[in-house]
Amino acid sequence: MANLIGFPMIRVGVVGASGYTGGELLRILSIHPEVKVNVATSREFAGKPISYVHINLRRYYPDLKFSNVSIDELTSRCDLVFVNTPSGISQKITPRLLESGLKIIDLSPDFRLRNPQDYEAWYGMKHEALDLLDRAVYGLPELHREEIRNANLVACPGCNATSSILALTPLVESNIIDLERIVVDVKVGSSEAGRRPNPGTHHPERANVMRPYSVEGHRHVAEIIQELELLSRRKVKIIFVPHAVGAVRGSLATCHTWLTQQKIDDNILRRIYAKRYGGEPFIRIVGEGLFKYPDPTNVLGSNYADVKAVPYQDVGAIAFCAIDNLVKGAAGQAVQCMNIMLKLDEKMGIDTPPLRPI
Ligand SMILES: NC(=O)c1ccc[n+]([C@@H]2O[C@H](COP(=O)([O-])OP(=O)(O)OC[C@H]3O[C@@H](n4cnc5c(N)ncnc54)[C@H](OP(=O)(O)O)[C@@H]3O)[C@@H](O)[C@H]2O)c1
Repeated sequence: MANLIGFPMIRVGVVGASGYTGGELLRILSIHPEVKVNVATSREFAGKPISYVHINLRRYYPDLKFSNVSIDELTSRCDLVFVNTPSGISQKITPRLLESGLKIIDLSPDFRLRNPQDYEAWYGMKHEALDLLDRAVYGLPELHREEIRNANLVACPGCNATSSILALTPLVESNIIDLERIVVDVKVGSSEAGRRPNPGTHHPERANVMRPYSVEGHRHVAEIIQELELLSRRKVKIIFVPHAVGAVRGSLATCHTWLTQQKIDDNILRRIYAKRYGGEPFIRIVGEGLFKYPDPTNVLGSNYADVKAVPYQDVGAIAFCAIDNLVKGAAGQAVQCMNIMLKLDEKMGIDTPPLRPI
C-alpha cells in the first residue's frame, strides 16, 4: 500500500492490541498517513474483528482481525512493531524481532531500566534479554530525541514517570533545587491499570476513590531516578507516592522541591521552563488566567503535556505536569517516537487538540 505521493507505507504490528494502550495506538495509527497496521495481536480475541473489542474503531479497520502472536507473521508482514504487553513478555519476543531487522517500540517496562540489577529488584523476575538493555533508548523525546532518531529499540516510559520527569526536568537541569529531597505525588486514572480488572482496579472498587498505593516504592520511581540522575550526573533521592483517583484517564504529577538558593520568583521559574521547553511540540506551559495550573482534563485525548512550576514561599518550588496517561503517557508518545525514528514530521498523526469539556 502506498501513501499519498506513491511511496510504500510503513508496515506496522501491534502486539497486545486488545488492551488499553493497544487500542489507543490503533486509534491514533488509523489516521496516520505513513503507516498501515498489518498485524494486531490478542490471544483472547484471535479471529475477531478489531471493532469487536474497540467499538470506537468501527469502520477504521474493516479488514483487520486480531491474531495470535506469531514471530513469523510479525517479521514477514511488519517493518516496525509496538509491544503493549504486561512486564516480562516483551523480553521474550523482542530479541527475535530485532534480529530480523524490525524496529521495536516497547510500551512495557522490560527495557526501560539501564542497570542490569534493577529489573529483577523492581519487577521481581529475572530479565531474559539483558544484553539488549544497552541498545534500548528511553522513549522520552524531550530528553532523548537524537538517540531515538537512531534507535532500533525504544523503551517508552511509564505514564507516571512521563509526567514526573517532564515536571522536574527544568528544575533539575537549572541546578536550583536540592536533588536529594524531592517529593512526587501523582494522581492517576483507572485506565493506567489496563483493561483486565482486579480487586483494586475493578470499577465498583475504584470509582470515586482517592487512594494512595504502592507507597513502599512504586516501580516508576526507578526510571524517574535513572533519568534525573542521567540529566544531573548527581545522586537523586525521591519519595514518590501515586494515588488512584476516580477518573478514567489522566496523570497529574505534583512535585515538591526545596531550593538551594535563597529566593526564586514566578518570573525566573517561567523563564526556566520557557527556555527548556520553548521548542517542544507537545509541551505547553500553563500561564495565568482562569485555569492557572496543569489539569489532566485539559489535555485528554491529546499528546500534550501541560507543565508549570511555582515558588512556594521562600522554601521551595512546586512543579506540575498533566498528561493523558494513554496518549502522552503511552500510545501518543510511542507514535511520537516512531515519527522520530522514521524521520517523519514528529507531530504526524498526533497533532490533535484535547477534548473539552470531558
Ligand atoms: N495503561 C497505561 O496507562 C499505560 C501507560 C504506559 C505504559 N503502559 C504499559 O503498557 C503495557 C500494556 O498496558 P495496557 O494498559 O494496554 O494493558 P492491558 O489493557 O491489560 O492490555 C494488555 C495486552 O497484552 C496482551 N497480553 C497479555 N499477556 C500476554 C502474553 N503473555 N502474550 C502476548 N500478549 C499478551 C493482552 O491481550 P491477550 O491477553 O488477549 O493476548 C492485551 O492486548 C503494560 O506493560 C503497561 O505497564 C500502560
